[in-house]
Amino acid sequence: MKLSPILALALLALPAYAASKQDEAAGAILFRDRGCTYCHGDHLQGTDRAPSLDKVRDKLKADKITAQITHGSLQMPAFGEILTPPEIAQLVGFLRSKHRPAIPPAPAGATPAAPPPLPSTKPQ
Ligand code: HEC
Repeated sequence: MKLSPILALALLALPAYAASKQDEAAGAILFRDRGCTYCHGDHLQGTDRAPSLDKVRDKLKADKITAQITHGSLQMPAFGEILTPPEIAQLVGFLRSKHRPAIPPAPAGATPAAPPPLPSTKPQ
């Protein structure tokens, strides 16, 4: 299905998506499996690569977190072409959760996806 530009704009203008508990739990798994923990730590505690996200809820509104995940920054890869908008919304729901679900341990033998390259190292 092709979205009309007007409908696409209307969707973008919708108020911040309210995440359900299921979405938050799905976000926890995406965080674990899509490379976020590589830099932000297994429990959001931060590493020498990236800051802790434990208190990000108090710092950034959902739209800012969405933008950070979608576009990345100099030090953080952009996930906008890797994750779908609903997946990004689940991650935002997880990070913004008041009672954030614990990240479940990865299944035995699973190797988490390597994070995508940083914009600065991406071939043009
Ligand atoms: C290669 C390392 C790396 C990966 C992988 C990474 N990040 Fe980041 N992230 C950073 C760095 C570094 C910053 C802080 C400064 C900046 O924006 O460059 C950051 C900042 C953030 C911020 C803003 C924090 C603040 O306090 O302003 C959010 C939210 C965030 N990352 C979420 C994620 C999510 C969700 C993922 C996985 C989809 C992810 N990051 C993957 C390196 C990474």
